[in-house]
Amino acid sequence: MTFKLVGIAGSFSRPSKTHALVRAVADLAASEYGLASAVYDLHDVGRSLGTAQWRKDLDAQALRIIDEIVAADAVVIGSPTYKGSYPGLFKHLIDLIDPHELRAKPILITATGGGDRHALMVEHQLRPLFGFFMAHTLPTAVYASDRDFTDYRVSSEPLSQRIAAAVGELATFVPSRRHALAAAE
Ligand SMILES: Cc1cc2nc3c(=O)[nH]c(=O)nc-3n(C[C@H](O)[C@H](O)[C@H](O)COP(=O)(O)O)c2cc1C
Repeated sequence: MTFKLVGIAGSFSRPSKTHALVRAVADLAASEYGLASAVYDLHDVGRSLGTAQWRKDLDAQALRIIDEIVAADAVVIGSPTYKGSYPGLFKHLIDLIDPHELRAKPILITATGGGDRHALMVEHQLRPLFGFFMAHTLPTAVYASDRDFTDYRVSSEPLSQRIAAAVGELATFVPSRRHALAAAE
């Protein structure tokens, strides 16, 4: 069975730096490990998210995306920084996921912000959130600021290197790579 990675960008901007970052991570993981990937943003989730009190209130499209996230073998989270943290609507999406549904799932954390001032939001906001779910957040989190992008594409070498480091940490969760790593020990 193909290993499936799902990326979710907690942004409703289009074009979006957060979406571009999640896409870059997913594309590298897909080429590195031959896995299947899909990337969504809050536009894909749609308007029912804003008025849903419970998961059953979501429309079919939003439900399908949440189902894909919880069924994924690995998840890439991307969040823009709003007022030093993740946007409320993105948190609302995560609030509609049951605690056990992300347990032990590998999660690669990414975020974007206007500058470097809130670079630690990946560690101080996003990592504890997925710690609550007892997910396997990968050790390297990726934060990118405006200057890491050109025309909404990843363009800085340090960011590319950090993406590669984070994607490398996914290897132990990809069955074909895990077997190769074990054989090499
Ligand atoms: C409402 C709002 C609040 C923001 N607050 C911050 C902030 O606290 N720190 C920061 O570095 N950038 C902040 N920004 C800038 C965004 O995080 C940044 O432009 C981000 O890359 C946008 O992602 P997107 O292109 O996916 O929408 C804010 C932007 C908006 C719209």
